[in-house]
Amino acid sequence: MDFVKKTSQFRELVDTQIASVFEQQAERGVPEKLVEVMAYAAGTGGKRYRPVLCLTACQAVGGKVENALNAAIAIELLHTYTLIHDDLPCMDNDLLRRGLPTVHAKYGEDVAVLAGDGMQALAFEYVAGTLRDELTAEQRLAQIKEFARAAGPAGVVGGQWEDVTVKGGFSIELVDYVHHHKTADLIICATVMGAIAGGASTEVVETLRGFAFRLGVAFQVIDDILDGDDPAKANELSILRIMSVEEARVLACKLSDEAIELLDMLPPISNAKAEESRANLRMLVEEQLKRTI
Ligand code: IPE
Ligand code: IPE
Ligand code: MG
Repeated sequence: MDFVKKTSQFRELVDTQIASVFEQQAERGVPEKLVEVMAYAAGTGGKRYRPVLCLTACQAVGGKVENALNAAIAIELLHTYTLIHDDLPCMDNDLLRRGLPTVHAKYGEDVAVLAGDGMQALAFEYVAGTLRDELTAEQRLAQIKEFARAAGPAGVVGGQWEDVTVKGGFSIELVDYVHHHKTADLIICATVMGAIAGGASTEVVETLRGFAFRLGVAFQVIDDILDGDDPAKANELSILRIMSVEEARVLACKLSDEAIELLDMLPPISNAKAEESRANLRMLVEEQLKRTI
């Protein structure tokens, strides 16, 4: 199956599962409006980049997609909570996300904070194994550790901290730190959790971690390029504060090449689905890079 078909199939699977997460919340007696607000934030419209990556990584190491579903849902819920909070007036103060009013713009700031908090805890419930799968306790624990670290101060919170608090005087070290932790950490976590669910060896997990780190930093470099070098945003962190668009493109190309080299270092596998998924991981890198041209 080709890249576009396969990723849209995975995306649909994630959309369906996410919808059922919120149906279950309603059945649990969660306040109706809270379910509505969380479902609005996590509803369709996102690219589902991280869960698709998680499912693809699982298949790329020879695993069954069903075994990565808990992790795939968990990472999308975690990502969604970071977006709800990122858009708040006290953070980026954005009114639009995915072409629609942000959660606080539509429902109010108080409920947006709570919906984000609820979503983060719900994410942990999934990574702990809400859906039936065949993971061992050891695999589950390894995923939970990855997840908690990526969600915490050494992960996305640390990255957001520097992004939000540092205004001006940007150095290459600071931009690297923010790109790594604000963006790449959830992309790394998605990939590594998928590989763990697929039963990958430590060596394979670490090769894929290196792959996802480069993919994730390239993702943010490209996002910064697409956001443009707006002089009105001179105090907001971006790769374009420390290099030209052309230099940033060269950096995105270098990271993408390195990501592909790491994929090529994976031990060969005689499994058609795994080979196809590896080709799709490669396509993901190449398609992402094309967005800057
Ligand atoms: C946006 O992530 C936040 C960043 C880390 C730049 P995505 O571009 O994956 O957002 P959605 O989920 O597709 O809307
Ligand atoms: C959002 O980064 C990153 C997280 C929520 C962790 P940005 O602020 O750069 O992304 P957008 O522009 O809001 O999507
Ligand atoms: Mg933002």
